[in-house]
Amino acid sequence: MRYLTVALAKGRLADQTMKLFEKIGITCEEMKDKTSRKLIFSNEDMKIRFFLAKASDVPTYVEYGAADIGVVGKDTILEEGRKLFEVIDLGYGKCRMCVCGPESAGELLKHHQLIRVATKYPNIAKDYFYNKKHQTVEIIKLNGSIELAPIVGLSEVIVDIVETGSTLRENGLMVLEEVCPLSARVVVNQVSMKRENQRITALISSLKQMIQEEQA
Ligand code: PRP
Repeated sequence: MRYLTVALAKGRLADQTMKLFEKIGITCEEMKDKTSRKLIFSNEDMKIRFFLAKASDVPTYVEYGAADIGVVGKDTILEEGRKLFEVIDLGYGKCRMCVCGPESAGELLKHHQLIRVATKYPNIAKDYFYNKKHQTVEIIKLNGSIELAPIVGLSEVIVDIVETGSTLRENGLMVLEEVCPLSARVVVNQVSMKRENQRITALISSLKQMIQEEQA
């Protein structure tokens, strides 16, 4: 039997996902050793292996079939725009993609002024402003600490993830508009879905059932 390969976005999402896999009987002892520098972990008996990747690379591994399955945030799926099947909303990692800024930027947004938008998610920002709002903006790509941009005058607003809202609050910023809700999703390679249909379908239904039981 061929190995089923699962790509996980490293960090909190991966830890939560491994706990979920454990609950449906798929364990991976090798992965629990946090001191290890190993990149790929397998469960020989179940012929399944896991690897950790940078979140934005997970859709790439899955589209090319280097991973059959991926677990990653909806933000990354939208931003990367890869050809994949999105099969489960895992319900954790919940947060929102929002347009944020100082209160004063609300007026600029309302009057469709030509504003600058700093973001780690240029595709999501473009889609929101150009296709949904029909508003011309200048998008500036950043790689982190996006909240800095309106504070130091790089942009009027940002498009970023808001979870608790405390980063915004502590920096005198606020949510001005909501772009979309986000959470962790399971994605599947389109060819794997056909070739490994039985195993993947069984895995999807166990995961779905476990999530439902947990939410009940
Ligand atoms: C994310 C996001 C916000 C923050 C939101 O940043 O970009 O900065 O979390 O969380 P909060 O609403 O609970 O404060 P992350 O920590 O992933 O790092 P980054 O600044 O490198 O994007």
